[in-house]
Amino acid sequence: MYDKGKIIPGIIVFVCLLIFPILYNSGSAGVLPNPEKPKDQKECVKDKQYMRTTHMQLINDWRDEVLREGNREKVVVQGKKYDKSLMNGCMTCHTNKKKFCDECHVYASVYPYCWDCHFVPKETI
Ligand code: HEC
Ligand code: HEC
Ligand code: HEC
Repeated sequence: MYDKGKIIPGIIVFVCLLIFPILYNSGSAGVLPNPEKPKDQKECVKDKQYMRTTHMQLINDWRDEVLREGNREKVVVQGKKYDKSLMNGCMTCHTNKKKFCDECHVYASVYPYCWDCHFVPKETI
């Protein structure tokens, strides 16, 4: 009925596949994403930890505020005003999509579809 000769090696192969990425990545921080920070800016629109974990939510909130509620009130960072916008907000500081946004997204295998419509700053292309 059960073919032990196949199941056991099968399980061993499976476990190896599971732990391979862990072993492979151990000790080599080089593979972690390293998004390029804006050189001439010190602060984001929220603190770094919040941005790391919650930027996707924040940007959706911005869109809803702007498009559904007509609230285009600017966001102030270090005394300067920024639009609640992908292109005219986030990307005025994070000018390079490839070296910033994509750096993490490719690593995490998330591919936001935003740029199907929204322009990317020229520098990136
Ligand atoms: C005023 C310029 C400015 C704007 C506008 C801005 N950022 Fe930032 N952002 C920064 C800076 C500077 C940092 C690095 C902060 C630090 O190191 O403490 C940063 C950090 C981040 C990080 C964390 C990066 C990391 O390495 O952990 C994310 C994610 C991020 N920003 C996304 C966004 C998104 C999305 C928007 C638009 C909703 C946005 N930022 C708008 C300047 C800006
Ligand atoms: C520090 C790493 C990092 C940086 C930098 C970063 N992101 Fe992200 N982003 C992520 C991760 C991780 C996810 C997936 C989170 C999840 O699924 O919970 C994500 C998800 C998103 C999503 C939602 C996608 C979806 O399908 O749900 C959007 C939109 C987004 N990011 C926009 C941006 C923009 C715009 C920038 C550049 C201005 C940016 N991100 C920079 C790590 C980052
Ligand atoms: C099907 C096309 C399309 C896609 C895909 C799309 N958008 Fe938009 N977005 C628009 C249009 C059109 C506007 C309206 C522009 C205006 O009136 O300022 C807009 C406005 C916005 C705004 C507010 C104002 C501005 O100029 O930025 C934000 C923020 C925004 N989108 C974020 C996103 C994010 C984040 C994603 C991906 C998760 C996304 N959009 C995907 C078409 C799109």
